[in-house]
Amino acid sequence: MAGMTIVAVTGDSIAAAAAALRHGALVAFPTETVYGLGADATNGLAIAALYAAKGRPAFNPLIIHAAEPEAVVALAHVTPLAERLVAAFWPGPLTLVLEKRATRIIAELATAGLDTIAVRVPAHPVAQALLHAADLPIAAPSANRSGHISPTTAAHVEADLGDRVAMILDGGPTPLGLESTVVDATGTEAVVLRPGAVARDDLARVLGRLPAVAGEEEARPASPGMLQRHYAPATPLRLEARQVRAGEALLAFGAPLPQYSGPMVNLSASGDLVEAAANLFAALRTLDASGAARIAVMPIPEQGLGEAINDRLRRASRPA
Ligand code: TXA
Ligand code: MG
Repeated sequence: MAGMTIVAVTGDSIAAAAAALRHGALVAFPTETVYGLGADATNGLAIAALYAAKGRPAFNPLIIHAAEPEAVVALAHVTPLAERLVAAFWPGPLTLVLEKRATRIIAELATAGLDTIAVRVPAHPVAQALLHAADLPIAAPSANRSGHISPTTAAHVEADLGDRVAMILDGGPTPLGLESTVVDATGTEAVVLRPGAVARDDLARVLGRLPAVAGEEEARPASPGMLQRHYAPATPLRLEARQVRAGEALLAFGAPLPQYSGPMVNLSASGDLVEAAANLFAALRTLDASGAARIAVMPIPEQGLGEAINDRLRRASRPA
């Protein structure tokens, strides 16, 4: 029913939203840029449900939101460059891409299996209150269905995702209405990966010079197409496998399984695509490390999250 999921911001609704997040549910909330679709970034199943709700045909890495800059230190290697940007722009509409710590706190699916992680400390008081109450790292893409425009009001979110979220916290129209600027701060030179609410001139005031933009010629030539970079196993994949051949490991899905006794991970014994998505990247890493010459991948239905799972497996199966 229209309007049912939109709730006014009160102490009680913030507490209820935080509890919903801790139980793995999705909560939409305002930030200073656009409304975000929040999920517990440490919970792979919640992240899989988030991708399903967005209807994304592929797993794009998500921005992990924290209440305080100090919380980011546990998740990422904060470079001196990042420290300068944090001091100048956080809390605020700047997202930093950093090397991920090997702690496995964050679900592999949230970072799409990458060794980097995008982090942001938003300034909006409702986002701040929710992040403090949840006391968790929260993954939050813009709260729109894939291919739609980013939402700047609670009503926009309701129109796109009203039946898929536990709650939409109504903080009024978002002040900036434009997504955060995404900056790669893994090295010594900042590279803008996505232009956004922090202008390049603002960055230049802190950095002492205008940062490069990925894809433009002045960007680091050593790593073109940063945005296209995705995790892929070093071991070749063989898709649509119905038997396992000599030397292969098995990435299974559902049942019955082929006769086989070597390295195997079943993405979901019950054939649940949400569970399979949550397990995908960790499973690929496990089998990649198994020493097998190839990974045989059982067929996965091209439905729901199966589309994104198959997209990622097809990319990973192509020679680099
Ligand atoms: O303003 C915003 O950033 C909003 C609010 C809700 O915080 N969020 C948002 O998220 O726009 P999303 O998922 O729609 O966009 C995330 C962007 C994408 O361009 C993605 O490719 C990039 O961040 N990104 C995330 N992780 C990355 C990584 N490890 N390396 C490079 N780019 C990354
Ligand atoms: Mg978006």
